[in-house]
Amino acid sequence: MKPLLQKLTETFSPSGYENAIRAVIRAEIEPLADEIRVDALGNLIVRKGQASKNGKKIMLAAHMDEIGLIATHVDENGFIRFTTLGGVRPHTLLGGRVRFADSTPGVIGGERITDTTKAYTFEQLFIDIGAASRKDCPVKVGNVAAFERPFLDLGKRLVAKAMDDRIGCAVLIETLRGLKITPHELYFVFSTQEEVGIRGVTGAAFGLDPDLGLAVDVTGTGDTPKGNKMEVALGKGPAVKVKDGGMIADPRIVDWMIRAAEKAKLPYQREVLEGGTTDARAMQLARSGVPAGCLSIPCRYVHSPSEMVDEKDLQNAVKLLTALVSAPVELD
Ligand code: CO
Ligand code: ZN
Repeated sequence: MKPLLQKLTETFSPSGYENAIRAVIRAEIEPLADEIRVDALGNLIVRKGQASKNGKKIMLAAHMDEIGLIATHVDENGFIRFTTLGGVRPHTLLGGRVRFADSTPGVIGGERITDTTKAYTFEQLFIDIGAASRKDCPVKVGNVAAFERPFLDLGKRLVAKAMDDRIGCAVLIETLRGLKITPHELYFVFSTQEEVGIRGVTGAAFGLDPDLGLAVDVTGTGDTPKGNKMEVALGKGPAVKVKDGGMIADPRIVDWMIRAAEKAKLPYQREVLEGGTTDARAMQLARSGVPAGCLSIPCRYVHSPSEMVDEKDLQNAVKLLTALVSAPVELD
């Protein structure tokens, strides 16, 4: 899975500009799909299988977009001020590198500060692309940038920008690749604009009107020094979301996931995430409501340019998702 993950995470596609990642994913899955289409919001929707007597219409979603920056102003000396696309935090930025859609690279600099005990605010930061003047700067107001950071293989652990949520995309791709039979009509949805407020999947869920929905996305961990106060840790298995900041997972979905993990003897963790949410929220609230849940991949340093996951968790997530969609679903 490492080469696939490297390809996915190194692709440039901040929210609203998912063309590049959509093309990469499409090339991977086109031969595996029974039907493939792109909707008006740019979601890539892949159907596999047809509903049989004991099958359901199941929607699986992972978002393709990544957090990024967007230029708001270019000053006379060619320095670019910016605002954020999604949940970027200023302390992750200084000294980092970014790349714009036209592939212009830049570095993030900051104004001189006198109180070095305080973190920078966005207002004190700018992007320097090496231009000498506004005229010399190819970046225009509204141009978007993504973090620039190569994939890093630490052996058991893998680090990249945009692990959120290319890791989920990789899990969907590998599940589709390995899937032999299913009684269900499965929709693998690679969604857009999740990081700016769960937008792309909202339209896709309305259009598909599924019987149940499952997102695959990252979740935080509590296993770093003085980190989050939560149970989830890297390497202890994919997490079954019970609750996050935007949804209460359907308890029937939680039970279904846990039963499947135990039956297949796969490690899993129970997840309560206090802030943040996923595409599952929009699936749950689609139309008159859909039983929904989320399979989470434990990830350290979420929304930084170096997000870390454990390779075993990925493999176990693929196994669990495959088990879930290969057998009839009994929700009770
Ligand atoms: Co995110
Ligand atoms: Zn995400």
